[in-house]
Amino acid sequence: MRYHNFAEVPLYKAFEFIEPGPVILLVTSEDGKPNIMTLSWSVLIDFDPIIGCVLSPGDYSYEILRKTKECVLAIPAADIIEKAVQIGNCSGEDTDKFQKFALSPLKASHVKAPLIKECLVNIECIVTDIIDKYGLFVMEGVKAWIDKDKSEKRTFHANGDGTFVIDGEIKNLKHLMTKWQQFT
Ligand SMILES: Cc1cc2nc3c(=O)[nH]c(=O)nc-3n(C[C@H](O)[C@H](O)[C@H](O)COP(=O)(O)O)c2cc1C
Repeated sequence: MRYHNFAEVPLYKAFEFIEPGPVILLVTSEDGKPNIMTLSWSVLIDFDPIIGCVLSPGDYSYEILRKTKECVLAIPAADIIEKAVQIGNCSGEDTDKFQKFALSPLKASHVKAPLIKECLVNIECIVTDIIDKYGLFVMEGVKAWIDKDKSEKRTFHANGDGTFVIDGEIKNLKHLMTKWQQFT
């Protein structure tokens, strides 16, 4: 059977077309020792906000998040894109990532995990559900911060193959959002 001029995409590559949300730095803390991992498998589940994050059991952060049930989702801007990728290529088991990548922890207001000063946005979150089969941690944001003075506001998105898209042109289509005016 022929399908127009479509070539088949291997199924294992299909996620790459859905993945590009912002790359996130997920910060946990255990016994006063903070750690950071890079995460691009996230999904917005509700406006509150409720966010789903998929963590591999191989990540040092996995057990800590299971145990402490709280974290910070820090959204880096393009000025620290290399650091964000490197944070996702080493483990908190043997590395103090705040020190190694010269990042500054700031005390959060609702959770023990710290905010990251160098990030554009920090969202303090409490884990409400864990779906073990998928390593899916469902969490509720309880406090959110934005660095209003930061000049670099572009976030970036993982394609899943080691390449990244940095935000570009913003197109304002508010006039077409007639059903969703409360969000414009
Ligand atoms: C761009 C990028 C995106 C990543 N996304 C995820 C993800 O969504 N879920 C996950 O479990 N690991 C993801 N990782 C891998 C973890 O960040 C990596 O295993 C890290 O070393 C875990 O740190 P930890 O052992 O200190 O917890 C990603 C890595 C990179 C570089």
